[in-house]
Amino acid sequence: MPQPGNAAQRVTKGDGEPGSLPASRTDRSISTGSVGPMCGIVGYVGPQDALAVVLEGLRRLEYRGYDSAGVAVRVADAADGALIWAKKAGKLANLEKVLAEQPLPAATLGLGHTRWATHGAPTDRNAHPHLSADGRVAVVHNGIIENFAALRAECEAAGVEFASETDTEVVAHLLAATYEQTPRREGRLAEAMRAVSRRLEGAFTLVATHAAEPDTLVGSRRNSPLVVGVGEGEYFLGSDVSAFIAHTRNALELGQDQVVELDRTRGVTVTDFVGTVVQPKAYTVDWDAAAAEKGGYDWFMLKEIAEQPRAVADTLLGRLGPRGELVLDEVRLSDQELRDVDKIFVVACGTAYNAGLIAKYAIEHWTRIPVEVELASEFRYRDPVLDRSTLVVVISQSGETMDTLMALRHAKDQKARVLAICNANGSTIPRESDAVLYTHAGPEVAVASTKGFLTQLVACYLVGLFLAQVRGVTFEDEVYAVVADLRRLPDAVAAVLERMDPVRELARSLAGEDKMLFLGRHVGYPVALEGALKLKELAYIHAEGFAAGELKHGPIAVIDHGTPVVVIVPSPRTRGSVHGKVVSNIQEVRARGARTIVIAEEGDDDVLPYADDLIRVPRTPTLLAPVVTTVPLQVLACEIAATRGLDVDQPRNLAKSVTVE
Ligand code: F6R
Repeated sequence: MPQPGNAAQRVTKGDGEPGSLPASRTDRSISTGSVGPMCGIVGYVGPQDALAVVLEGLRRLEYRGYDSAGVAVRVADAADGALIWAKKAGKLANLEKVLAEQPLPAATLGLGHTRWATHGAPTDRNAHPHLSADGRVAVVHNGIIENFAALRAECEAAGVEFASETDTEVVAHLLAATYEQTPRREGRLAEAMRAVSRRLEGAFTLVATHAAEPDTLVGSRRNSPLVVGVGEGEYFLGSDVSAFIAHTRNALELGQDQVVELDRTRGVTVTDFVGTVVQPKAYTVDWDAAAAEKGGYDWFMLKEIAEQPRAVADTLLGRLGPRGELVLDEVRLSDQELRDVDKIFVVACGTAYNAGLIAKYAIEHWTRIPVEVELASEFRYRDPVLDRSTLVVVISQSGETMDTLMALRHAKDQKARVLAICNANGSTIPRESDAVLYTHAGPEVAVASTKGFLTQLVACYLVGLFLAQVRGVTFEDEVYAVVADLRRLPDAVAAVLERMDPVRELARSLAGEDKMLFLGRHVGYPVALEGALKLKELAYIHAEGFAAGELKHGPIAVIDHGTPVVVIVPSPRTRGSVHGKVVSNIQEVRARGARTIVIAEEGDDDVLPYADDLIRVPRTPTLLAPVVTTVPLQVLACEIAATRGLDVDQPRNLAKSVTVE
C-alpha cells in the first residue's frame, strides 16, 4: 500500500510496495506511458489548508478520470522545504483512505491529479504527481508528450533513474535540472518551466512546484486546458473551473503556449513560452458547481458531443509520424503475424458495432482482406470459422461489455489473434487481447456513446491503414494522403458543430413524432443505423435505419404522410452512381409524403429540390465521411429527447456498461 511519503522514500517504491522494482522498460504495452487528454489537475497556493482545497477540487474533477489520484504539498514550516506526496491507483476514495490513515502535515501550497490513463498501466507507480530524482520538484500532467522517449534517453544518459513508465516523469527531471541552471532571481521556476515547455512536443497541461519556492506554483499549457482562479490572497489552477468554484468565481483564461506563475507575494504573471508577458483574459464564472462539471452544458452528452474535435485529434496524437507514416506501437503483433492475416472479423455491440460496419468498408478497401462484422452476442453461438490467421478486432468503449468479452474469449479459444479498440485503459477486454489500440476520448459519462463512436472510427481507420502499410498493399503516398485527410477531421467536426442551431430548431419541430426512418448507402448506411439507435435510446421514438437501396424491398410501405425520413447523402464524388441513386431514393420517399431531412456535403446542389430540411456538412473523403455526418444525428437525437423532457444522460432501461450477457 502506498504511504504518504517524501522524496527519500520515492526511489525504493514501486506500485506502492517498498522495495519493488520498476516494470521492464521493454514492455511495449506500457512503452509510451502517456496520460490521456482528460485527466483532472488542481493547484493551490494561499492561506487555506492546501490539501483540503486540492482534494475538494479533485472530487469535482473526478468525472475526468478515475484510474488513480495523487497529491503533493509543500510543508509550510519545514526548514529545507520538503515536498510530501501520496498517490494511489483507483478512485479518489482510495487516496482519501490512505490520507485518513496517515494525515499529511499542514501546507499552504499543493497540487493534485486524477488520472484517466490512455496507455500506461493505471498503477500506483504511474499515478501523478511525479517527482524529480532529488525530490525537489513535483509535477502533474494532462496530455501526451510525444517526444518523451528522446527526452527520457537524454535524462538516463545523464544518470537519472526513472521511477515510472510515464512520459510525465521526464518533465520532473528536466525541470529540476533546468531550475539549477537558471539564475537565482524572481520568477526562476517559471523561467525554468518555459525552457522545459519549449522542448516538449505534443499536448500538455503541466502544474509544478519546487521545494525551494514555498509560495510559488507554475503551470504551462499547450493543446490541453488550464484555467486560473483568483481569490483574496490565494490562487488556484484547474483543468476546469469546477476545481475552484467553491472558493472563487474570478477566473483567468490561459492561451495556447503560455506559462503562468502564481506567487503569494507577486500575484499572477502570464507569459508566452519565450517570456513575453501577456495579459490573460479575465472572466467571471456564473455556473453553479454541478453545471461547472458539465462545462456549463445542460447534459454530459452535449459536452461530450462538443468535445469531439479534441477527442478525434487526441486519438490521432502520437500515431502519425513526421512523414505521415503510421506509428502504432501499442499493437503487439509482429509484422509477420499481420502479414499472415487472411480474414478479419470485427465484433462489437450497439454503437461500437456500427463503428465496425464502417470499418469494413475502409479496411477492405485499403487492405483487400475480407472483413466480416458481427454482433458480439451472435458471434460465438453461430460457430464462426476462425484460425491462427484470422484477426478479430473487438471494439468496446468501456472494455467491460460481457457479450464482447465472451466473443473475444471464443476467438482466442479458436487460436485467432485479437486486437481490441477500447477507450478504458486497463479494462478487461484490452487485458485479455493480444494487442490494443486505445481511443483517447477520455471518460464518456453520458450513457449514449458519442465521442466514443467517433474515436472508434478513427481507431478503425488507423488499424486499416496500419495493416495496409505493413502488408505493403497500398502505396506509401496513398497512406500519407489518407493520413493528411485524417488530420483535417478535427476541424471538419468543429465546423459541423458550429452550425448546429438549425438542427436544434429542427429537433424541436420533430419532438412530437412517434416514428422516424434513417436512410443511407455505402458508409452512410451504418451512419443511418447509428442515427436511428441514438434516437431510439434517447427520445424513445421508434426509429429504423435502412440501406437506402433496400427501401423498395419492403420498408417503403411504412412511409406515410409527414413521416420524417433522414437521408445521409454520399458525396457526389463517390465511385459509381451511389450519389445519384440516393438522390432518387429521396424523391421516392418524398413522392409518398415523407418529410425529407437531408444531410449532404457543401456544394451538392442536386439534393436542393427534394430536401424539406437540409443539413450541410463539410466535404470529406468518402470513407471518412461518417466522422462528420454522424454529428448532426447525435445533436438531433439529444435535442429531441431534451425537448420531450427526458433524461438525456441516463435514458430509461439502459446502463453505461452492460456487464451481463
Ligand atoms: C449506444 C451505446 C451502446 C454501446 C454498447 C457497447 O449509444 O452506447 O450501444 O455502444 O453497449 O458498449 P461498449 O462500447 O462499452 O462495449
